Order: sequence, then structure tokens, then C-alpha cells
Amino acid sequence: MIGNDINLAAKLLINGDVIGIPTETVYGLAGNALNEETVLRIFQIKQRPHFDPLIIHVKDVSEISKYSEEFPDELRHLASLFMPGPLTLLLRKKNNIPDLVTSGSDFVAIRIPAHDVTLQLLQKLEFPLAAPSANPFGYISPTTAQHVADQLGDKIPYILDGGACQIGIESTIIGIENGSITIYRKGGLSIKDIQDNVKSRVVVKDISTSNPAAPGMLLSHYAPRVPLYLDVNHKPKNIDLERCGYIRFKEKLADVSENTQIILSENGDYKEAARKLFAGMRLLDKMDIDYIIAELLPEEDIGIAINDRLRRAATS
Ligand code: TXA
Ligand code: MG
Repeated sequence: MIGNDINLAAKLLINGDVIGIPTETVYGLAGNALNEETVLRIFQIKQRPHFDPLIIHVKDVSEISKYSEEFPDELRHLASLFMPGPLTLLLRKKNNIPDLVTSGSDFVAIRIPAHDVTLQLLQKLEFPLAAPSANPFGYISPTTAQHVADQLGDKIPYILDGGACQIGIESTIIGIENGSITIYRKGGLSIKDIQDNVKSRVVVKDISTSNPAAPGMLLSHYAPRVPLYLDVNHKPKNIDLERCGYIRFKEKLADVSENTQIILSENGDYKEAARKLFAGMRLLDKMDIDYIIAELLPEEDIGIAINDRLRRAATS
């Protein structure tokens, strides 16, 4: 059931249930992070392998130290600037966070969602919420309550509706390794915003580098069922262009039907493009087409994170 009842949502969570919650990035599949049975349910509902850890969501910066041993100054500074917001910090965990949440890692991923409804919800709870994106493992993340209902509606008692997500792609995950700010997942907060506000070097851990600190950064992710190709080099030969759907940054293609073209932002606004990306992919995935052909954006601002999602969605 989809609804707006924050009290009901809180009651269910206190009872140990798993529900859908809105955030500014994508919808989450949330439960009490301190209750191992609930955490197991999250993995089960999402069909997520246990080696892929969960992010915990807290209501304010002061909560972070309840669950993490250390809070390095530079991360604290970034937290003061960008939390609540699309930023997740990887911090050494305290023992109160079950190993199940972190897949055995000594580090826990923590964020504060910038969403009124979910902040009000967190105020009513005495525990943090573990919440992966509310999609079956490997599929596109949901950016509306209806997206969650479409795939997980029969597995969870409630989806708290907070409207369409304002950021539309997942949070940027960062930590510190050997004194450098390290980006483990490109996301809704741009690399430039991070770099401009720290003295340390910022290192991006590429998806191709082996990366034990972020076991969940699997390559095949965010993928629609219809095979998706990037139009630069990977366009298959001999395909019927009328049987294709298109994801375009700014401009429509003149020679194919309008109905199968998703324009992310006519004005070339990266934020608007991010907001529309996953909903556009889902829309095309429902159509009677054989391929999706996606255009990459310029590699700047959060165009970088959007391209990361498109590459992961692509059929190799
Ligand atoms: O924007 C977001 O971050 C959304 C909303 C719902 O908050 N959540 C989200 O969660 O994207 P999920 O589970 O779909 O992606 C979290 C990623 C995974 O790739 C996981 O491997 C990584 O974060 N992660 C979580 N905890 C980690 C940890 N302790 N160490 C390394 N990576 C971790
Ligand atoms: Mg996810």
C-alpha cells in the first residue's frame, strides 16, 4: 500500500517491518539497522547477496558518532556542508552496528537523507534505518513510490510516499584511504563539489580497479531488461532503428519517432537530467522495443555520475 502516514510508517518500523521510504536520491527499502532479523528481511526482499553491504540513514550529524568510532576532520567538514544531502560517508563502525549490515566490514556507510518526510520519520525512531535502493538487486533504482510498488508492492506492507525524488540518482559514497578522500561511488554530489572543499587529494576508485573496500560496486547494475547500448562505440550493427528506444541528453533525433525518445534535459541541465534518468529508463523498458540506445553526457558535474549509471546499465 502507498500512503502518506508517517506515524504508521514509524509503527511498522518499530515493529521490525521493512517498508519503502522516500529520499532525495532514490527510494529506499528500509528497516531497523540494529535488528538482525529485519536486516535479513531486507536482503531477502531485495534478493541481494549478503556480501553487498547496506547504508544506514540517520537524522542528523550528531547521530553519526553513535555508530562510528572515528569522524576524521575532513569528512566532518564535508558533512557540515553537504549533510543532509546526497553524500554517504564510510566510517569505522562501532560494535552496535551488526556485521550483517556491513557484510563483515569494519566500516559502515552512513548518510542523512535530505527529505522532510523521512527526516520526520527518523525523528520518531530510536534506531538508524538500513536502506538499500528499493529495487530488486541489479535493476534500476526507483524514483517514485509507484516504481517501488511495481516491483516490491506485494512483499512489503507499506510504501511511504514522498513524491518524485529531487536528485534522482544515488548518493556519492566517500571515505578516507591513506590520507586521501576516496570516492567509491559517483553520485548526486559532484566530485568537483567535494574537491573544492577539501585540502586533501581526491581519488576516484574506478569500477575497473579491484576494490575490496566497496564490495557492492558490481559492474552490472541499474540495468533495464531491454538491452541498452551506448551510442558511441557499442551500437550493434544491423538493428532496426524503429525498434529502438533512445535516451538523449538535450536533443531529439529527427529521423525516429518522438514516442520512443527520452530527452533528459532540453536546457542541458545536469540536475534535471539526473532527476529524469531512471524514470526514463523504466518507461522505455516497458515499451515494445528491442534495444535502448543511450547517449553519454559531457564528463563534467554530475554528468559523470549519470554516465557511470548508463555504462553500468549497458549490455557489454
Ligand atoms: O542514495 C542512496 O545512497 C540510496 C538511498 C536509498 O539512500 N541508497 C543506496 O543503497 O543506493 P544501495 O544499497 O542500493 O547502494 C549502496 C552501495 C552498495 O553498492 C554497497 O556495496 C555500498 O553502498 N556500501 C554500503 N555499505 C558499505 C560498506 N560498509 N563498505 C563498502 N561499501 C558499502
Ligand atoms: Mg542500489
